[in-house]
Amino acid sequence: MERLKPKPHPLAVPKKPQGQVTRGKTARNRLRQVDNFVLRYDPALLTRRDGDFADALFVDLGYGAEAVTTLESAGRFRRLNPDLKVLGVEIEPERVAAALPFADERTFFRLGGFNLPLQPGEHVRLIRAFNVLRQYEERDVLPAWEQMARGVLPGGLLIEGTSNPTGALWAANVLRRIESGWRQEALVFFTNFHLGFDPELFQSILPKNYIHRVLPGEPIGEFFAAWKAAYAETSPVRTWGLRAWFAASAEGLARRGYAIHLRRKWLAKGWLIWRL
Ligand SMILES: C[S@@+](CC[C@H](N)C(=O)[O-])C[C@H]1O[C@@H](n2cnc3c(N)ncnc32)[C@H](O)[C@@H]1O
Repeated sequence: MERLKPKPHPLAVPKKPQGQVTRGKTARNRLRQVDNFVLRYDPALLTRRDGDFADALFVDLGYGAEAVTTLESAGRFRRLNPDLKVLGVEIEPERVAAALPFADERTFFRLGGFNLPLQPGEHVRLIRAFNVLRQYEERDVLPAWEQMARGVLPGGLLIEGTSNPTGALWAANVLRRIESGWRQEALVFFTNFHLGFDPELFQSILPKNYIHRVLPGEPIGEFFAAWKAAYAETSPVRTWGLRAWFAASAEGLARRGYAIHLRRKWLAKGWLIWRL
C-alpha cells in the first residue's frame, strides 16, 4: 500500500527563517492600491497558467499582526483568477497562529522568512513585501531580495515598498525575475491626494534602498530635484486640481529625460511609474 507523506505543519520550520521580527502594524485596506496597481500593471501574471505557472502562488511576505491584507488581496486577485493560491508568510509564530483559522484549500499561512517556506514543487508568480524592509538596515536589502528570488519563476514579480499607515501614500520597487536574479523594472509612487500633492511627501516613505540616498549626485537625489523643479514650473496647473498638477509634473520629468509612463490610466489615478 502506498504511504502518504504527512504534510508539514505550518509552524514547522524546514529551514531557519531569514530575517528578524519587526513591528506588526497593519490596517484594513492599507494595501488596496498596491493590489490595484498590480492588477493594472501585469494582469497576465496573475492569470497565466503555462508550465509551472499553472499552480504558482502569490506570496504576501510579512503580513503583520493580522492577516487582513493577505485575505483582502486574495479576494481582489481571485476576481481575475479564482484558483489563485495565496501564501501569507510571517517570521513571528504568534502571527502565523492567529492567521491559521483563515486558511483554506487555496490560502495558506506559514512561518518563514526571506528564504520562502515553500514545499517541494511549489513556485511563486508574485511576492508582495510591504512595510517589511523599512525596519531593516539598508545593507540588508540586496540579500533579502536575493533570498526572495529563489522560489520565483522567471517572469514573476516582487513588489517591495513602504506606505504611510493608511496606504494613502506609498512607493515601491518593482523587480522582475530574470534567469540571473532580479531586474529592477520600475520605481512606483502612489498618492490618493488626501495629503495634498508635493513630491517631497514621498521622501519619507521611500523604500529602504533609497530613503537615505536623496542626496546630490545620487540618482534618486537627482530624480527628486528634477521632480521638484517640474512641480514648481507647472504650479499654474494647480487651478485644474491636484491630479492635473501631478500629471503635469510627470510630463515635466519626462521632458527632463526620465522614462515616465505618461498614460492617463496611471497619472489620473495617482500612480507615477519611473521605468528604470
Ligand atoms: C509593519 S508589518 C507589515 C504588515 C503589512 N505587510 C502591511 O503593510 O500592512 C511587518 C511584518 O513583517 C514581518 N517580517 C519582518 N521580517 C520578515 C521576514 N524576513 N519574513 C517574514 N516576515 C517578516 C514582521 O514580523 C511584521 O509582522
